[in-house]
Amino acid sequence: MYSHKSFGTSRSMSYRAGSPNTSAEIHDGYTDKQQEQYTKYLKKLKTEFQDRWGQKPNFSIEFSDLERLKTLGSGAFGRVILLKHSKNNKLYAMKVLEKEKVIKMKQVEHSLYEKRVLEAIRFPFTVSMECSFKDNSYIYFVMPFVPGGEMFMHLRRMNKFEEPLAKFYASQVVLALEYLHFCNLVYRDLKPENIMIDKNGYLKITDFGFCKVLQGRTWTLCGTPEYLAPELILSKGYGFSVDWWSFGVLLYEMNAGYPPFYSNEPMKTYEKIVAGKYRCPSSFSSDLRDLVRNVLQVDISKRFGVMKDGVLDYKNHKWFKGIEWDAIVNCRVQPPFVPKYKNAYDTGNFDKYEEEPFVPASYCRYESVFIDF
Ligand SMILES: Nc1ncnc2c1ncn2[C@@H]1O[C@H](COP(=O)(O)OP(=O)(O)OP(=O)(O)O)[C@@H](O)[C@H]1O
Ligand SMILES: [Mg+2]
Repeated sequence: MYSHKSFGTSRSMSYRAGSPNTSAEIHDGYTDKQQEQYTKYLKKLKTEFQDRWGQKPNFSIEFSDLERLKTLGSGAFGRVILLKHSKNNKLYAMKVLEKEKVIKMKQVEHSLYEKRVLEAIRFPFTVSMECSFKDNSYIYFVMPFVPGGEMFMHLRRMNKFEEPLAKFYASQVVLALEYLHFCNLVYRDLKPENIMIDKNGYLKITDFGFCKVLQGRTWTLCGTPEYLAPELILSKGYGFSVDWWSFGVLLYEMNAGYPPFYSNEPMKTYEKIVAGKYRCPSSFSSDLRDLVRNVLQVDISKRFGVMKDGVLDYKNHKWFKGIEWDAIVNCRVQPPFVPKYKNAYDTGNFDKYEEEPFVPASYCRYESVFIDF
């Protein structure tokens, strides 16, 4: 499975692992030594994150150079649009949020966080900010365009992922959560709709609308019903554990094609989650069952990701056997699936939406509320 061909991470982001283990050291999994070395890389990324967090970004793109092509996605507070830079033809995805809706839905703080987080993070499996703007009525976040569409759509098209593909994706989500948590960021909205597939077949997590810097614990109820952790539903203070729970739900859904806790009524879904009641389909291998069981642990003290060995519990689990973690982070593993698209402008991996004009008001609305944007 290991290949030296790079599938696309930038040189500046690539990870240089230490010298290969000697044969005496060969270990099936990820050794403490490898993790120690990788932690040095994470520390460097964290310092860079903190530097950007404290600075005002320097953007070189002019709003008037961005030509609007098509709607790619639509959500609770706005929509995401495909754009072309009129001078260099580069494509971007722009999230447009209407100030009034953001205020009505009490999401001002969340969208400010989304902006700051997007400006500061840089990791192979997360999107980041190219530039941002605001006008009289809207705020705009411009990101690189991820043309492969949502994991959600591919999962529905394929019904479920074969284990090697699910493993390939799961390993990137583990690394992305490890990075975000290392930077003290809790993500809080992991689900197939927020995971995009890039043209090289690797993932890009998008939608940092619920992401925040975590100091101690937090209590905010946010996320998506099927993916909510029990401690969040029970209004207990919570921390990074909620992301690992959602990862467990994702792991299950990628392999089964449907989520582990589901009902037509959210209250019934919550009851099942809190009780930790689910059944694995017979197609799950015993290693996969074992991993799911260790992640979907209602008792946080037993949940993979937040115990004393942290992420190593994943990196060394039997289900991930064969995953070359250092090669994955450098995008040097041949992806089991690469999304099809005909040309750079092809949006065949996205749903179709009715286009709506954006007409900013003639005066600046809510100026003081959005002063920090
Ligand atoms: N960088 C991107 N490239 C291509 N498509 C994107 C990109 N970012 C987002 N999208 C598409 O737009 C959709 C909506 O974006 P996003 O998830 O950020 O907003 P949202 O779900 O409306 O936000 P919220 O959850 O805050 O309501 C995504 O699910 C995806 O289909
Ligand atoms: Mg979303």
